[in-house]
Amino acid sequence: MSMTHHFDYTLQNAQGGTCIAQAWAKVEPPLPASEKYRIQQSIKQALAAKNAVLIAHYYVDGDIQDLAIETGGCVADSLEMARFGRDHRADNLIVAGVRFMGETAKILSPEKRIFMPDLEATCSLDLGCPAEAFSAFCDNHPDRTVVVYANTSAAVKARADWMVTSACALAIVSHLKDQGKKILWAPDRHLGRYIQDQTGADMIMWNGDCIVHNEFKGEELSMLKKLHPGAQILVHPESPESVVAHADLVGSTSALLNAVIHGDATQYIVATDKGLFHRMQQLAPSKQIIEAPTAGESATCKSCAHCPWMAMNSLNGLLHCLENQTGEILVPTSTREQAYRCIDRMLSFSRQTGAGTAHGLVPNLGAA
Ligand code: 13P
Ligand code: SF4
Repeated sequence: MSMTHHFDYTLQNAQGGTCIAQAWAKVEPPLPASEKYRIQQSIKQALAAKNAVLIAHYYVDGDIQDLAIETGGCVADSLEMARFGRDHRADNLIVAGVRFMGETAKILSPEKRIFMPDLEATCSLDLGCPAEAFSAFCDNHPDRTVVVYANTSAAVKARADWMVTSACALAIVSHLKDQGKKILWAPDRHLGRYIQDQTGADMIMWNGDCIVHNEFKGEELSMLKKLHPGAQILVHPESPESVVAHADLVGSTSALLNAVIHGDATQYIVATDKGLFHRMQQLAPSKQIIEAPTAGESATCKSCAHCPWMAMNSLNGLLHCLENQTGEILVPTSTREQAYRCIDRMLSFSRQTGAGTAHGLVPNLGAA
């Protein structure tokens, strides 16, 4: 029996007003070890039999990440997931992540079939930026270059000039600023503000946020740092300004992982979804990873940073979609063709400049 969780997220209208809306996610209970093993073996066989490859995000369950690696797939950030899926020769891509990642894979590889363990796994940034309201917002600012974060629907991407991920957003906005462009940014207000601070670009913002990263607390983080004075603080840029202010490094999931693997410190306080710690611990076993706090003194859960929609990716759901061809991602042709342009622009830029590769680590110039 799965459990259903309810969440609030911010919804903006075209005039910039906001309201709080609700979403839900369901999470399956842990499996007994023998059952888990049986399902894992069946998934491996089904991947081979169906000429399918598993592409997982760092935030999904560690068992699914391990299966992706063991079967020749990948575990990556959203930028690398897009590239890997586009370049792989498999007929079927199984995307373990959230819906926008499956849609991006389909937009880049329309000839492949894309499946997801649960099509209802979404993202508060995507939910909080409906295509119609977003389009009206763009209509109100026709002089601006439209830059959208990957965490949006295909229909929102179809309205954009550029798509970015957190791995290459800073480089792309700097490039646009150098060309004298004014920017309309959506939907993550924290990432947008961080980029604006770093680049000085002229940006107007959609008012969305990530329900996971938005919960990190700056004051609690500084108290934790006092307990671990030698620790490096690593922060995903979807976090609030008060958290970013304490960071030694701000970066995408891959950048944070690289920082732990290659950094000199032995302790790291990390402000992002705790799903990433699985890979951090595998690749840097001698380093201590400490969860950044999401709540104050009196809270029952002090480090609750786990995306409820990423958690909807279960081993059972994965096997079910492979065996029954359920959870297929379909994007209408006209939307797909329009959305392709902004994604392809980002991938070409990244290929030409190296933005979003390991060299694209983002030092937090504003850190104390
Ligand atoms: P990355 O692009 O860093 O993988 O982040 C995606 C995401 O959803 C972060 O919350
Ligand atoms: Fe969206 Fe936040 Fe979940 Fe990432 S962690 S998928 S931004 S809700």
